[in-house]
Amino acid sequence: MNPDLTKQLKQQVGLAAAQRVTSGMVVGLGTGSTAAFAIAELGRRLGTGELQNIRGIPTSFQASVLAKKHGVPLMTLDDLGDTEEIHVAIDGADEVDPVKNLIKGGGAAHTREKVVDSLAREFIVVVDSSKLVEKLGSTFPVPLEVLPMAVTPVTRAVKALGGEPELRMGVKKDGPVITDQGNMVLDVKFADIPDPAGLEKTLNNLPGVVENGLFVGVAHTILVGEVVAGVPQVREIL
Ligand code: 5RP
Repeated sequence: MNPDLTKQLKQQVGLAAAQRVTSGMVVGLGTGSTAAFAIAELGRRLGTGELQNIRGIPTSFQASVLAKKHGVPLMTLDDLGDTEEIHVAIDGADEVDPVKNLIKGGGAAHTREKVVDSLAREFIVVVDSSKLVEKLGSTFPVPLEVLPMAVTPVTRAVKALGGEPELRMGVKKDGPVITDQGNMVLDVKFADIPDPAGLEKTLNNLPGVVENGLFVGVAHTILVGEVVAGVPQVREIL
């Protein structure tokens, strides 16, 4: 897909998700280029007065910077207290399978994303059609956030599980990617993921792994930007 068209689809789907937010809601703010369009649209709607009194819970430093830029008020999970809840979370994904399981973490934000997205009453995933796959792991490795002191043993352990791990390296920064929590990321390619729920648990059981990018049973609604008969449109997978 050409990059301009991909960007257009991401924008359309981000806008469509932001249109579902109503006044008074607490909104989980996702990370990545698609979620960024949703955050911008929330800010635009707040600016016109169409939307009032929403508060966002960011899933990353990037999401909080964008929220501030677009005038979306922020809160923390602590502010929710015992009774308030996240009404909706809007976040992107790197892969979506036919039963709405996901691989996330292309932006190394999957740890906080999983906390926020899984707490939402409705988690809306926003993707362009290139993210739809028949089987998880076919186009994207599984990212693991790992404590820096545990990178070597975790590398060995994921190899023993049949994975091919690669330490994620920075772009325009020498050395490894460092997450918002100060950890590193191993991208693990698996030839086949027959049991995503089992693998999610197995990976998180490895000492030193903080969180992995398999999101099983977390997403409620998938919004897909796709081109049908030459026309870009948004399709909902319920
Ligand atoms: C960040 C993520 C992103 O949501 C995912 O990588 C999709 O990004 P984009 O919308 O830029 O394609 O999981 O950790």
